[in-house]
Amino acid sequence: LARAYHEKVIAHYEQPRNVGSLPKNDPNVGTGLVGAPACGDVMKLQIKVDENGIISDVKFKTFGCGSAIASSSYMTERVKGLSLEEAEKIKNTEIAKELCLPPVKLHCSMLAEDAIRSAIRDYRTKRAKAGEPKKAGYIDVSQSAATGETTATAHPPS
Ligand code: FES
Repeated sequence: LARAYHEKVIAHYEQPRNVGSLPKNDPNVGTGLVGAPACGDVMKLQIKVDENGIISDVKFKTFGCGSAIASSSYMTERVKGLSLEEAEKIKNTEIAKELCLPPVKLHCSMLAEDAIRSAIRDYRTKRAKAGEPKKAGYIDVSQSAATGETTATAHPPS
């Protein structure tokens, strides 16, 4: 019988790190939910970001193959303690190399890259919404130097 999985995959698969969920509505939590169209596997990855912009907690749930579970487990360990900028630079090729994934399993590691990026995006969108002050309306008045004509543009409150 051919061995389907490398021992590093099996180690993560048998003892996945950081399985679970974080509260989705926590303003400091970003949730990434992604799927692989090729096989229908789904990965949810959540990050909690502290006041210094550092990922302080990570959880995942993956409905997928052993490589996808191992990739997400590896990703959670890899990003803990990193800044968002550092975390979004992690490539699936690094995961695939670390877990010795064969070419047919590359998309499984891609799922983990997509998931962390999606979680970071969700976190940033949440923060932007929370921090955005309500803008007052204003009117722009400008005068053309060439014609002397005045134009007024109204910007309603947003
Ligand atoms: Fe689809 Fe692994 S076979 S994620």
